[in-house]
Amino acid sequence: MTTQFIGKENFTIHTQTVTESCPSNIALIKYWGKYADQIPANPSISYTLNHCKTNTSMEFIANEPFSVQTLLSGNEEVKFAEKIEKYFRNIEQYLPWILKGRYIIRTENTFPHSSGIASSASGFGAIAKCLMKLDETFTGEISKEESLRKASFLSRLGSGSACRSLYNGLIVWGETDEVEGSSDLFAVPYPETEIHEIFKNFNDWVLLIHEGQKSVSSTVGHGLMNTNPYAERRFQEARENFVPMKEVLKSGDMERFIKLVEHEALTLHAMMMMSDPAFILMKTGTLEVINKIWDFRRETGLPLFFTLDAGANVHLLFPGNDSEDQIKAFIEAELLQHTQKNGVVKDVMRF
Ligand code: DP6
Repeated sequence: MTTQFIGKENFTIHTQTVTESCPSNIALIKYWGKYADQIPANPSISYTLNHCKTNTSMEFIANEPFSVQTLLSGNEEVKFAEKIEKYFRNIEQYLPWILKGRYIIRTENTFPHSSGIASSASGFGAIAKCLMKLDETFTGEISKEESLRKASFLSRLGSGSACRSLYNGLIVWGETDEVEGSSDLFAVPYPETEIHEIFKNFNDWVLLIHEGQKSVSSTVGHGLMNTNPYAERRFQEARENFVPMKEVLKSGDMERFIKLVEHEALTLHAMMMMSDPAFILMKTGTLEVINKIWDFRRETGLPLFFTLDAGANVHLLFPGNDSEDQIKAFIEAELLQHTQKNGVVKDVMRF
């Protein structure tokens, strides 16, 4: 199945530095639960963000003993380097030259480190793009399409959600009959002709309700699904949710879209509450914001809604149309007060 990504045995390596940048993404139908080799338990779909990115430069010093040094905003990160070293060893069959040198990886995020915005997605996305750039100089160029697909495949092996960050727009990862060409091994763009105009100009403002270490890492979180008695039902529901998602993306039915996206976010958190051990990742501010959003929608009928990652922060979603100024004013006046330090990252979806 993965033979299409096996690396070429003929290569000529040399010392080189490459730089790449990769955005973060926010899932609308969530990936939560996986099998061996980073195979997702269900398909997921996300929006790629525009401003939240990781910029990475990778210095490869050829023909020196394999080692990895990583610097995040200039500060050495030993734990991250260990993770990358393990990752590189793991993907050697796809890039046979990868262990034949020493690496210095300098990386910077355009969003606050502790914001809970998925830095592993943009981080591994940028690393995979750098690796593909090196691969092409060592083994010969391939088409842009092939290169992106392999970068998506490789980044998935670092962090599952990363594979969706390689493309702009709405991106699907995980095999589903609803999306042609979808795969468990890499992500594919959702066909643009099947997307209503309203979804092509969308805001995502991330309220930083709680900054600091997450109480459950994604790895631990996915693992909790192995013993969660509701896991199978959840995987099935995520698969089923692709049917209404597809209809809504085509028709532009905002009410159904909102219902679906909020349901997905709350289900993710419900799964964690029903895990053993249990986790409650929402904070008081998260609940206050959700209730205010619901009141606002009831009173104004305007399309402001939310999604959540595996943390307390709230992603505020709203279309970029005539209603956006009123929504932005409401956020500034009513919702910002629930953040820890007036923290908000104002982003838009990248198409
Ligand atoms: C809640 O991709 O961070 O953001 O594969 O273990 O690296 P690993 O997990 P990760 O999980 C992301 C989970 C999520 C939902 C999503 O992005 O679909």
